[in-house]
Formats: sequence, C-alpha cells, structure tokens
Amino acid sequence: MKIAVAGTGYVGLVTGVCLAEHGHNVTCVDIDDSKVDLMKAGVSPIFEPDLEELMIKNLDGLYFTTDYKTAYKDADVIFIGVGTPEKKDGSANLSYVYGVAEQIAESIEKDCVVVVKSTVPIGTNDKIEAMIKSNLSHNVNVYVASNPEFLAQGTAVRDTLHPSRIVIGVEEPIAGEVLKEVYKDFDAPIVITNRKSAEMIKYASNDFLALKISFINEIANLCEIIGADIEDVAHGMGYDSRIGNRFLNAGIGYGGSCFPKDTKALHWLANFHDNELKTIKAAIDVNENQKLKLVKKSRKYFDNFKGLNVAVLGLTFKPGTDDLREAPSLLNIPIMLEDGANIKAWDPVGVDNFKKIYPHEITYCNTIEDTLKAADVCFIFTEWDEVKNFDITKYNKLMRTPIVLDGRNCYDLASVKKANITYDSIGRETLYILEASPV
Ligand code: UGA
Repeated sequence: MKIAVAGTGYVGLVTGVCLAEHGHNVTCVDIDDSKVDLMKAGVSPIFEPDLEELMIKNLDGLYFTTDYKTAYKDADVIFIGVGTPEKKDGSANLSYVYGVAEQIAESIEKDCVVVVKSTVPIGTNDKIEAMIKSNLSHNVNVYVASNPEFLAQGTAVRDTLHPSRIVIGVEEPIAGEVLKEVYKDFDAPIVITNRKSAEMIKYASNDFLALKISFINEIANLCEIIGADIEDVAHGMGYDSRIGNRFLNAGIGYGGSCFPKDTKALHWLANFHDNELKTIKAAIDVNENQKLKLVKKSRKYFDNFKGLNVAVLGLTFKPGTDDLREAPSLLNIPIMLEDGANIKAWDPVGVDNFKKIYPHEITYCNTIEDTLKAADVCFIFTEWDEVKNFDITKYNKLMRTPIVLDGRNCYDLASVKKANITYDSIGRETLYILEASPV
C-alpha cells in the first residue's frame, strides 16, 4: 500500500520504518530539511536500537521528504505521528496534529484513511475528521481512524514489529478494513473499537502502568521504614498472573515523554469535565516526591553538597535511550549545583543532550572509573548495563568516601555486603561501610 507518515520522531519514524519492513511503500514527512537529508542517507536522527539498521535495509521502499503535498496527494493511508507535548496547564498541545490535518485536507486527491497515532485527548479524532472534511481541496472521501501506539523507547522497533495488540478505533467499517490490510502481516490480536474507546485505551494503558510504578514505589518507601525488602515483595507479588511481574521495579520514579505527560493529560481532561481521577492524581504526586528520594536520603550523610565531589551515573530517563525528558537527573543535578557540588557525570549516550543544558557546569567522563575517582558520594539515576555489571568492589577503591545512593536497585545486597561501601537503595535495607580505606 502507499503510505505517508507525518512526523519522524519516535512514533512516526519507527512506524514508517516498520511498515516499510512489511513491504509497504512509505514516505515519511518532516518539516526539518537537515533531518530529512540525514534520513535519506540512512542515518536515524534518534538513538533507538535496531532502527538505523532497519532503515538502511528498507531504503528501497522508504522515502523522506519535506514536500507533504506530493507525499499525501495519492496516499492510501496517512499516519499522523507528530508530537503532542504537554502545555503548562497539563493539557496536550495539539497544534502540530491540527497543522498536519490542515495540510492533509489541502493535499489529498483521492480517497484515503487518516490514521492518528499521536497520543491525543479523547474526542480529538472527531475534531481532526471535521477539520479535514471542512477544508478539503478535492472531492474525495476521507476516514479518520485512531490507532494508538504502545512502543517504548529503547525497544521501539521490537514493540512495533511484534506488538502486544493492534488497537483500531473507527466510525466506519471501511476504515477498519483498510487498516486490517495495512497490518495483515503483523502477528498480533486486532482490537476494533469506536474512536473514543481507542483513544481511551492508550491513556488508560499508560496511566495504569504509571500507577503501578507509583504503587510499588510507595510500598518500597514503607518497606524501608518497616524493614521489608521491596525486591522480595515484588517477586512474591509478581507470580500472581492477575498482578503480573512487570513494571514492579521500585526506583526514583517514572520519567520520559509519555507517563508524566499522559497522567497529567487524563487528569486535566477529567477536571475539565468536573471530575477527578483520584488514583491518577495520587500516581502523579507520588512520582514527584519519588524523583527527589535520593537527594532526601543524602541528607542522612551530608547537610548540603557544598564542596562535595559528586559522581552521577546515568542521565537519561531510562537505559536504551538518549532521551532526557522528565529524567530524575534533571531535577536532582540543579539542586546539587546550587549547593556548590563538583559534579562528574557518566552516561553512555545521554551526554551530548545533557551538554546542551549544562555545557560547562559538569565534568563529563568517558568511564565509570573516572567518574568515581575521589568522589564523596555517588548517585545512580539510570540502570545502564554498564552500571549493573560494574565491579562493585571498585566503589571503595576509587571513591574518597564510598557512599552509593542507588535509585534503580542495580545491585543485590549480598554482593554489596562484600564490597564494603555505604549503599542506600530503594525499599531495601541500607548497608553501611565497615571501615574506610585510604584513597
Ligand atoms: C511508555 C510505555 O511503556 C509504552 O507502552 C508507551 O507506548 C509509551 O510510554 C508511549 O506512550 O509512547 P516509555 O516511556 O518509552 O514507554 O518507557 P517505559 O519503559 O514504559 O518507562 C517509563 C518510565 O517508567 C521510565 O522512567 C522507567 O524507568 C520507569 N519504570 C518502568 C519504573 O520506574 N519501574 C518499572 O517497573 C518500569
């Protein structure tokens, strides 16, 4: 099928590349010339495992352009995958989505299905359809379908090629039939609903996962107080298939471009309708506090950070991505800098983006060892494999005072006990150094 995709961020580009992999003829549209040139040369503008390889493999059926008119005019299906960033009041900014809808209306010259993949507030698909229909330049039929995506950054290609489900929200059966054809080679259950239910499935899924994380974080905080161990608790809970063992990792809260935005957007929508989603509100509040958990813990060891050498391991909101959006590092590092800390930081892929915000205030290191040298305290914000597989005996050898505050529970306590460090993690017993060794 001839497919156009608007937007080449995580959603748009990964969708386009995976549809090309399934034999469709795909044109990806972006407003940024330099990005388009990069992609034409087979270079992915975003860091995402396997994406570039798949792009290069499919360059024969994959085109990139800023010329939306040509891309849209004879497409069978147009996917909208542009961003819906959070506005200051917590609602979703839909200006990019509506901008694309206007371009589609002025460009299409044959019947087509417009598929909304961007996460949009419930009811937006109806507005998009009305907007396109009232601005059409040619006498054609257009059907709008909601087809939310469930990919996670870091596993986006795998999640898209092997989705847990394909949700299609339509008002006319013909649009559903066209989308079934688009996805005919994907091995996943197809759920057909009306458009508003599909829009809600996306929000409810993300908000449920955010709630699950905030729940386990609250239990973790209580475990610390009463002397239980959150890893054991989550392990024991996870065997119950009604609960499931995923997304029960306690830590310093969820970040990224989705959970923070989508929880606030649904909460905002409920408020707008004179309603309150109390569970979602609680998930948001718990998360805001949890992100500062390590800095609060550090007060046990220091009154403030003035003159302290602080080692930071991990800057991104999770491993497998260079994305810093809503990353705990962004909330914690300014607090330490304001106090007068000397910060050395390590991250395998997030440094370039972090440098755009803090070009000179931080020393960026290429190795974990360099980061730890002569440090008074170490903060672990991201559970990169390099951190999890790091020889923990080196903390004691390299740091001036080996105090490790681990926001992602990277190490099991039995191994830490042998490493002779002070180790404070989430929802578990704090282990204290027996004797300091000279640096
Ligand atoms: C999330 C969802 O997982 C995807 O299904 C969804 O499609 C996507 O949002 C989206 O709406 O586009 P993503 O934000 O990429 O994907 O990342 P996740 O792997 O879900 O992690 C989100 C945050 O939760 C991270 O900060 C992670 O560290 C945290 N998390 C995750 C925990 O603290 N504990 C866990 O057990 C799991």
